[in-house]
Amino acid sequence: SNPLGHGRIIKADAAAISEAAAALQAGDVVAIPTETVYGLAADASNAAAVANIYRTKGRPDFNPLIVHVPDHAAAERLAQFDERAALLAFRFWPGPLTLVLPLQPDAPVAKAVTAGLPTIALRCPAHPVMQAVLKQSRLFLAAPSANRSGGISPTRAEHVARSFGDAMPLVLDAGSCSAGLESTIVAVRENGWQLLRPGPVTMAEISELLGEPPLPVTEAKIEAPGQLASHYAPSKPVRLNVTKPAPGEWHIGFGDTTGDDNLSAEGDLAEAAARLFDALHIADASDRASIAIAPIPDDGIGVAINDRLRRAAA
Ligand code: TXA
Ligand code: MG
Repeated sequence: SNPLGHGRIIKADAAAISEAAAALQAGDVVAIPTETVYGLAADASNAAAVANIYRTKGRPDFNPLIVHVPDHAAAERLAQFDERAALLAFRFWPGPLTLVLPLQPDAPVAKAVTAGLPTIALRCPAHPVMQAVLKQSRLFLAAPSANRSGGISPTRAEHVARSFGDAMPLVLDAGSCSAGLESTIVAVRENGWQLLRPGPVTMAEISELLGEPPLPVTEAKIEAPGQLASHYAPSKPVRLNVTKPAPGEWHIGFGDTTGDDNLSAEGDLAEAAARLFDALHIADASDRASIAIAPIPDDGIGVAINDRLRRAAA
């Protein structure tokens, strides 16, 4: 079936959730809110449905997808959990943490989901709408962020529409995403753990739970291409750590650095994270030729904010 051409935004009520579940069972892609960003979801076991995700996003097929599960028991059908993985899932699920784990040999997922890797990225989201769709559809849902590959991630239904234009899928609208940055990605290895993408769950929280710091990420090959240098990028030049903008720049402020817009007047990093992508969408749509962003403290979730900003500016 064709995922495109019938795109519309509908309020995520019970009827919309049933419609989304049926569309997913039929192999369509549907944009669904999570607590991090909106995801472009499809049945992870259906190769044609997964191909629809790659085509809709314009995503290179060497970049594997995250699979969303309703709970830990469901996750164990797809991946092998050792002691570290079980601890992480018990502490942070449901929530904004993705675990990269050894794939179960008989896992019911299409090959393209893992791009042929021996591992799989799993996340149990906390958002009630994504949870309801997972339960009603009884599917495992592959879902990257619901934006064209390389563009700004969506934290509102309108961002999804703006990113896809005429090729917009069905979008369930539940307002703004509370965390506003993509999940933290942790790879669990035999001898420790690695941080593949900083996010709402901080490195300090994980180190404290597991009682050990992360292993360095040494792989030459790109394992999490969300980590490609240019990503999350507006269509305009972006300049970082700017307290005094140049003429013609749209200035995104933080705290006392007021700006045309401000991520958090109180200097609250969680609020800044939740607003970041919306602020970038607004800046991109403004009549200014370029974007300047105030310095953001590099601690706690500020690490993830600065990670996204460096890639937006690259
Ligand atoms: O918060 C999120 O994680 C959102 C929401 C929708 O859940 N999803 C998301 O997906 O950010 P996406 O596709 O934009 O980012 C997935 C990242 C990519 O960088 C991909 O390379 C990495 O996860 N990834 C997926 N499978 C992997 C694996 N087996 N090993 C290493 N990295 C993997
Ligand atoms: Mg993405």
